[in-house]
Amino acid sequence: MAVKEGIRREDRDIVDEIISRMHSYETSLGRFVDREEEVKNIAAGENIVEGGRITVLYGPKGCGKSTLFSALRYSLAELEREGFESGYELVYVSAKPRVSWDVSSAYSSTDLWGLLAEAVSSLGGSLDQSGVVKGLVDAAKLIAILIDRIARKFEKGKNILIVLDEARASGRESLGAFRDWLEVSANEIVEDNRVYSRRRGSIAVIALTSDALVEEIMDEVNDKVNWAFMWNLSRIASEELVNQIGLHYRVARELGIGYEESGELLWRLAGGNPRALERIWKRGLKRWLEGRVLTRLSKFVEKMQKTFGERLWEELWSAASNIDDADIDLKTVMLKRNIAIYIAAADKISEIPSEPWIGREYAFQIPAYYHALKAMARKRSRRISPEDVVREAMA
Ligand SMILES: Nc1ncnc2c1ncn2[C@@H]1O[C@H](COP(=O)(O)OP(=O)(O)O)[C@@H](O)[C@H]1O
Ligand SMILES: [Mg+2]
Repeated sequence: MAVKEGIRREDRDIVDEIISRMHSYETSLGRFVDREEEVKNIAAGENIVEGGRITVLYGPKGCGKSTLFSALRYSLAELEREGFESGYELVYVSAKPRVSWDVSSAYSSTDLWGLLAEAVSSLGGSLDQSGVVKGLVDAAKLIAILIDRIARKFEKGKNILIVLDEARASGRESLGAFRDWLEVSANEIVEDNRVYSRRRGSIAVIALTSDALVEEIMDEVNDKVNWAFMWNLSRIASEELVNQIGLHYRVARELGIGYEESGELLWRLAGGNPRALERIWKRGLKRWLEGRVLTRLSKFVEKMQKTFGERLWEELWSAASNIDDADIDLKTVMLKRNIAIYIAAADKISEIPSEPWIGREYAFQIPAYYHALKAMARKRSRRISPEDVVREAMA
């Protein structure tokens, strides 16, 4: 999809049309906000999503990857309904979150629906009207078959983006399976794209993952795939979302503080992570801190206690103060547990703000971890309260 010498005028107009429709997409937090930059980078950025290539798009858990592609799909469907020829097609395939590669749902435009349904049934499954896949269908195989059929049977020449959501890379086994899939598919896509390019089409694949462990396979498969990195919402977009659902009022009431202060606090704890905002909205700030942040961190610190013994609190303090310089064992476990994420060495499709919880190479996925870790190190105890975290964040 990338146009090497920069984006042509008509492409830019199309991308603007696509973006404008995205903002009427409804999420569980109201209107879809922001992400112009990301869409521009995905649709036309150099080396980000290219025909004949696989791109692994990774970013913090809950930063909005799935929602971005849902909004994009919605927008393309709206344009199709209006009779606007965008030239883009999006096929969305989601694996089941808890099983590595079984497909749970698959969608596409009406143009490609027939091929998609055929591919699903050739693997023994069935696809219902709303895109739910019944039966055990392997996502890797489905994508391979689909790409092959598009390359050989689909008459129209379009820019086709195939999205594989929920690509799992959370443990040794799924990380290995993911790497194998990347290596095999990278070669197949080059070939299928070449065939399809005779009909002036292009096929790109983008695999979404939240698992920070993918960093480990970057070097091994580096030149075969593109690596792209997406971050949480910008401060402005995060505030827009907070305002949209009145979350600052709710938090102000819960903590007995002013609206301005609660707005600031939300940024310092959620850092623009929409899923964190959603959970705070549903459960309240303290319950979110207790249930999602402190429980996870406490288990992590307990594990680290065995490694570091007496040195633990110093190591944690220095990791929180400068995550880039944290002890390597500490960093590895923080990545494995999705507390931290590697942010260097990938094309960034989002702007990354400069904040103390974000280093040059590594960052805390959400700042609540950063503040809570500091509060624990300060107290030299993993038993801290949500109030301790709030105090640390507002200091
Ligand atoms: N740009 C956005 N505008 C509004 N809400 C969003 C946006 N991005 C994400 N969300 C909300 O945040 C939640 C988490 O996002 P999701 O896409 O599931 O994250 P990821 O796939 O990166 O883990 C979604 O349920 C959605 O309601
Ligand atoms: Mg997701």
